Amino acid sequence: MSIATNNIAFNVEEIRKDFPILERKVNGYPLVYLDNAATSQTPQQVIDVIVNYYSNYNANIHRGVHSLSQEATDKYEAARIKIQHHFNVKKAHEIIFTSGTTHGINLVASGFASILKKGDEILVSALEHHSNIVPWQMLCEKTGAILKVIPMNEQGELIYESFEKLLSEKTKIVFLNHVSNALGTINPIKKIIDKAHTKGAAVLIDGAQAAPHIKADLQALDVDFYVVSAHKMYGPTGVGVLYGKEEWLNKLPPYQGGGEMIATVSFEKTTYAELPHKFEAGTPNICGGIAFAAAIDYIDSIGFETIARYEQELLNYATIKLNEIEGMKFYGTSREKTAVISFNIEGLHPYDIGTLLDKMGIAVRTGHHCAQPIMDFYKIPGTVRASFSFYNTKAEIDRLIEAVKKAKSMLA
Ligand code: ALA
Repeated sequence: MSIATNNIAFNVEEIRKDFPILERKVNGYPLVYLDNAATSQTPQQVIDVIVNYYSNYNANIHRGVHSLSQEATDKYEAARIKIQHHFNVKKAHEIIFTSGTTHGINLVASGFASILKKGDEILVSALEHHSNIVPWQMLCEKTGAILKVIPMNEQGELIYESFEKLLSEKTKIVFLNHVSNALGTINPIKKIIDKAHTKGAAVLIDGAQAAPHIKADLQALDVDFYVVSAHKMYGPTGVGVLYGKEEWLNKLPPYQGGGEMIATVSFEKTTYAELPHKFEAGTPNICGGIAFAAAIDYIDSIGFETIARYEQELLNYATIKLNEIEGMKFYGTSREKTAVISFNIEGLHPYDIGTLLDKMGIAVRTGHHCAQPIMDFYKIPGTVRASFSFYNTKAEIDRLIEAVKKAKSMLA
């Protein structure tokens, strides 16, 4: 399939050649990889950057006067600037390298322990991944703050009017995802951020599921914190970034103590380094940070508009085709959603469907997707989740449909 956007012709067969893993077979069948919301695959261009790092300039950063250390430091800091520009962030030191989204959320939640007091309120959305629930519950246990939940409706959308009612002068922070990992719902984050700010509340957005599909402009959003993982953006696992507004990052205490995050250390007193190093204790994932920037280059070489248009086409195609299967029930039917389909077939357990799909070479995620409250809302144990990327094809969706039909007949 080839679609033309701007001046670039997007040819999925050409794109697929960049991803060596897509050539492999699973259980005797050509792999159909539809678990992109769990982790995306890595193009050769990014793999080459990783190999080049370990082959040619692996060294610790910010510490050595020797040439390799300088080279690695320069590349790592250039990666930070690339990520800064990608998200339209004002200052490079507002980008903190982390091990991923979970790390970024924990860093902020832990920092708020020194800000919150008993009776303060924090708002979470009903659509969250466990990583954006549990750290805040831990924070509430520590501080006596109260966690309140913005409810969702049957379509898997947040109920904005309920958010408005819950929000008050007592609200100190609101946290929600940009896109739900379990359902694909795109949340109206700009509206929520603006409203939260009228009461002086900070907003943290978990951008992990949005970042591969939507280029967020963090200055335009005026968000206080935004967190992402590289491995959902065609980069490696174990690296991500936390964006924080400078004034907030200055207010929060360091998350971890160690080398690199200090200005001076004595047994009497330690002073902390300036941003971003204050939050980057220990040797970071240097190669990962550099590869993250390479992954952004790769996505940019295709273009977000092109990606979004193509993925929506896949979403529409798969939704229509799956809907033809008797007993099909979709979860998350928001009008604004990314290319994620969560479904069940009446009378069948999602785990059984997922296992049979795997036998036919098709990778999907099954279960609660680390979002048990959403499953509780629908009163189900879990779903089958197919999540699409720009390297997927309609032919692969046809394989999914045939395999689901076959699984259904085998399990009936
Ligand atoms: N958060 C990832 C997912 O949704 C792991 O699958």
